[in-house]
This record gives sequence, structure tokens and C-alpha cells, in this order.
Amino acid sequence: MIICIGAGPGDIGYLPQRSAELIRNADVVAGFNAVVNVVQALIPQSAEVVLMGYRDQVAQLDKVAQLHHAGKKCVVVFMGDIHFSGFQYLERVERACGHPVDTIPGISSAQILASRAKVCFDETTFITFHRRGDLTPFKRHLVHVLEDQRNAIVIPCPWDEARSFMPWHIAAYLLENGIPAQQPVEVWEHLTQAEAQWRGTLAECAHQRFSDMSIMLIRTMNPIPSQIEPPPEAQ
Ligand SMILES: C[S@@+](CC[C@H](N)C(=O)[O-])C[C@H]1O[C@@H](n2cnc3c(N)ncnc32)[C@H](O)[C@@H]1O
Repeated sequence: MIICIGAGPGDIGYLPQRSAELIRNADVVAGFNAVVNVVQALIPQSAEVVLMGYRDQVAQLDKVAQLHHAGKKCVVVFMGDIHFSGFQYLERVERACGHPVDTIPGISSAQILASRAKVCFDETTFITFHRRGDLTPFKRHLVHVLEDQRNAIVIPCPWDEARSFMPWHIAAYLLENGIPAQQPVEVWEHLTQAEAQWRGTLAECAHQRFSDMSIMLIRTMNPIPSQIEPPPEAQ
């Protein structure tokens, strides 16, 4: 048995009960060091822990797949929710196993941000730059989203100098592509842990620096007016 679960944005209190139960009964718990750390308190002493990082993830997932094929109950732990910026890792798990695997969603940093900043999903688009491959279509899509007067929740890319696309790079790119300098921006760091929050304009964001654990909200300048019924006294 092997199952992938979302561990939530950092605080174990956001882990679904079903996922907690799976970890408590696991023979093997695997994942990136910082993510396994979130669920550490639930891992039984008898379980084997397979830790990995960007460089050795393929080899370590092969090891997990072997344990799974040997009949061990394996749980692979993902940061936040699997379905936002987690699918390439899921693809690696499935490639190592040679078949599709079951998943349990977790609470994403994007959901916590939406809750803190009070934005509704209906009027918001989610984009990640934290992925391998060509980022160009995602960059273009972000410009279109903002031109369409929607909010955007964006996961930046914190990798090496050549590839990194952090909030200040994103802001500079959007300014170059005609998005107004006064567009409101928020950057939230370490949500559910040592939270920090910054608010400003796109122009100001281009000069700010943030840690790798940051997520960005670019608000529309023209929010959709309320479309619910008028209050009773006005009817
Ligand atoms: C590979 S993505 C995974 C996102 C995750 N699947 C989710 O749903 O939150 C990792 C990036 O998400 C963002 N992130 C994850 N957890 C965060 C948190 N607690 N606070 C702020 N940003 C977070 C950071 O930009 C981090 O580098």
C-alpha cells in the first residue's frame, strides 16, 4: 500500500484526521525533511523514515517504491496540498511505483492565505512558478488573469539565480508587461508558523525581499461588487 497525503502548511493542527491515522499506522513515512518534520510527532517508532531533498528525491522514491512493492504500508507526505504545486512530485512517486497512487488532499498555504486576506476562490486564480519546465505560459497567464480583473494567488520560485522568480521578480515582470504600478500586493511568509505579512503596491514589491517560504496575493483593482440580494430594509 502506498498513499500520498498533504501535510498542511506547517502547523500539524491543519493535518486531516484521516491522514494522521494513516501516519500512525504506517510502516514507512517518506518526504522532504521539512515536511516530514511537520508530522514527526505522529510517526510510530517502528516506522522507517525515508527523507529526501531536491537532489536525491528520485533515488529515495525508488527506495520507497521497493518497500511498497515488498508489502509495507507507505505514506508519502507533501507540503500543503498535493493539488497546488505538488503534481510534479506526485508524478515522480507514480513513476517510481509504476502505477497511479491514491491521494488525500491537505490544506494549502493558498487556502490559509485566502482565509487571512479574505479573498474568495471564485474570484481568484492560483498560479505556481515553483515547478520544473517552461514558466513562460504561466507568466503570460498571470498577466491575463490580472488584466481580467481577478485576484491572483502566486507561489514564487526560490531556486537558483538563473531560475528564481521571487515576488520582486514577479512584480518587475508584471510592471514590464503593463500591469499598473499601484496594483495592491500582499506577501505572506511562514503561514501558520512564524507568520509575517507585507502589504504594498506592485511598484514597491519590486524593491522588497522575502524568504523562500512566501506566497503572494495580487488583488484586483476592481473587485466584483456584491451580487447577493439587497438587505431586507432596502427592498
Ligand atoms: C512546492 S510549493 C508547495 C506548495 C504546497 N503544495 C501548498 O499547497 O501550499 C512550496 C512553496 O509553497 C509556498 N509555501 C508553502 N507553505 C507555505 C507557508 N506555510 N507559508 C508561506 N508560503 C508557503 C512557498 O513559496 C514554498 O516555497
